[in-house]
Amino acid sequence: MIEIHGYAIVSDDDRIADPEGRMPEALRSEADWAYFQAELDRAAVTVLGRLGHEAHPNPRRRLRLVVSSSASGLERRADGWWWNPQGLDWEAAIRTVLPAGGRVAVPGGRRVFDLFLGIGYAAFHLSRAEGVRISGGVALFSACEGGASAEAVLARSGMAVAERRILDPQGPVSLAIWRRSNP
Ligand SMILES: NC(=O)c1ccc[n+]([C@@H]2O[C@H](COP(=O)([O-])OP(=O)(O)OC[C@H]3O[C@@H](n4cnc5c(N)ncnc54)[C@H](OP(=O)(O)O)[C@@H]3O)[C@@H](O)[C@H]2O)c1
Repeated sequence: MIEIHGYAIVSDDDRIADPEGRMPEALRSEADWAYFQAELDRAAVTVLGRLGHEAHPNPRRRLRLVVSSSASGLERRADGWWWNPQGLDWEAAIRTVLPAGGRVAVPGGRRVFDLFLGIGYAAFHLSRAEGVRISGGVALFSACEGGASAEAVLARSGMAVAERRILDPQGPVSLAIWRRSNP
């Protein structure tokens, strides 16, 4: 059994990065980082885009599956599994990576978030830096570029909010955990 969980921290206008594709200070939150790290510890594999993989060292040596057009299907490299969705479908890839099943953590970026919208999240952990706007920034989902809210995109994909929390009252940074209504 494979259970896919997405993780993002967004601004009020559903942006994950600035117009240059960098994560701005306004989206950095110690409380959110601690929550995210604890969640990664519960996952059997982390699936992330090549740029995110290259930008974030992996000191805890968690198992990674790096999405990249440079891979021919699925490849085992020294730093983890590399996967090209154009070369091998998800079911076949994850059967090889996690033959016994388990939880999959997906921390983006945008094209990876879009990819797993199609594959199907069991849960999406949506943190929000309240009061922050990033005009012209990179949207969480490409549908958000066209004006749809992150909430509308998740609801359209068959999910609903199961839990709300404040991660940091100072920010404030809030968290909404969306879950598939009919798993
Ligand atoms: N706020 C948040 O929660 C959050 C979350 C994630 C990222 N970010 C921020 O967003 C920025 C980076 O994200 P990003 O979207 O630019 O980069 P990214 O998703 O980490 O990496 C993009 C790369 O991943 C590969 N890729 C992604 N989808 C693919 C697909 N469907 N098929 C084949 N390859 C695919 C491609 O690699 P190749 O070029 O090798 O083909 C692409 O160039 C950073 O600033 C990061 O900190 C923020």
